[in-house]
Amino acid sequence: MIERGKFIIFEGILGAGKTTQAELARKHLISLGRNANYTREPGGATAGEVIRRLIFRLKKEKAINADHQVALFFASRDFWVREFVAANLGVGCDVVSDRSYPSTAAYQGYAEGADLESIERMTEIIMEEYKPDGIILLDISIDEGIKRTSSANKDEDDPYDKLGVEYFEKVARGYREMAKVNWSDVPWHVVNGEQPLSLVAHDVRGVLREILGLKKLDPNRLPPFELSALQSYTSRYG
Ligand code: TMP
Repeated sequence: MIERGKFIIFEGILGAGKTTQAELARKHLISLGRNANYTREPGGATAGEVIRRLIFRLKKEKAINADHQVALFFASRDFWVREFVAANLGVGCDVVSDRSYPSTAAYQGYAEGADLESIERMTEIIMEEYKPDGIILLDISIDEGIKRTSSANKDEDDPYDKLGVEYFEKVARGYREMAKVNWSDVPWHVVNGEQPLSLVAHDVRGVLREILGLKKLDPNRLPPFELSALQSYTSRYG
């Protein structure tokens, strides 16, 4: 029987470096001889993509409340879990995701007041047996996140990025509280996202090894610095 792939979710506020670190994590898993795919909800699911654009449009127009957003994000997520996550894990391929249901808890729950218990129940229903093996929270300050995002060239107009310091304080507090209690019965790992990119990547590798049940890395020996990753990072964040 094929051993199921590992499922890892990266989380954090805007500008935390999730996309860069998720891509580096995927490459690291491949370097360990595994198969791994990067995804971002609704990744690959056509109906999910339509729902995501709808959420963004309605959010921009201030036409949806927190509960509407929860329902729509989970609808989009349902397509993604079935079409992408289950399909990959089932053939032994690891899945590294740039956000998923913990974002709904942080943004719609903690920041916008949607009921957290309902979000947890919906998580159980939609994710079913596809809950992640670990959640990696890239922790950065709000000032740093806003600074990085305003200097990045984003190809998509994200209405959530414009919600201001007060909103992100609630999101950040939510993430930290969830990490403390391993919310949704999944191990959370907090990594300091304000360190230089190579050190963040090093810490993430340590977490991946823990998830895979491998020996710990020697803290005195950093892995070779990944120039291409640094270039892509500096072009995004200056
Ligand atoms: P992205 O980081 O996947 O592009 O997500 C776009 C925005 O949507 C991001 O600013 C956070 C927000 N978001 C939520 O508010 N709730 C969710 O459940 C997810 C997945 C994203």
